[in-house]
Amino acid sequence: MTASTEQSSAYDVGRVRDLAEEGAHARGPLLEILHSVQQELGYVDDTAIAPIADVLNLSRAEVLGVVSFYRDFRRQPPAQATIRLCRGEACQSVGAEGLVAHACERLGVGVGESSEDGRVSLDQVFCLGNCALGPSGVIDGRLVGRLDEATLDEFLAPYL
Ligand code: FES
Repeated sequence: MTASTEQSSAYDVGRVRDLAEEGAHARGPLLEILHSVQQELGYVDDTAIAPIADVLNLSRAEVLGVVSFYRDFRRQPPAQATIRLCRGEACQSVGAEGLVAHACERLGVGVGESSEDGRVSLDQVFCLGNCALGPSGVIDGRLVGRLDEATLDEFLAPYL
């Protein structure tokens, strides 16, 4: 059983339905409901799709399509720590893509995913306003510049 599946069993699908019913009459209700669900329950679990589709009279594929399209929506419980690496143009020109690949390989996750144990997630961002000191990232809420594989490894070490 994966961490995500274990979490699903505690996921309050009844509350999802309540939030969907409360938001059903808003303008553009789907996005509003999804934001409410994520805000209250931390993420949009797979089990949330059906009740939302049901209340809005949409297909599950339509709801899932929106959840998948917008990167703002998390599909897994938020990790304890998040590593966000900048893939903006300036950072790309100084090796950001190699760093992203390195982080994926070391953590065994893809961009936008959390580790199996839920301790860390890897995310991307497209400029942190720290271009002159790229490649940049935000690690545990702290802006870090001039990242290279060695310094990134130091930050990743507690999660390996
Ligand atoms: S492009 Fe990475 S900080 Fe601006």
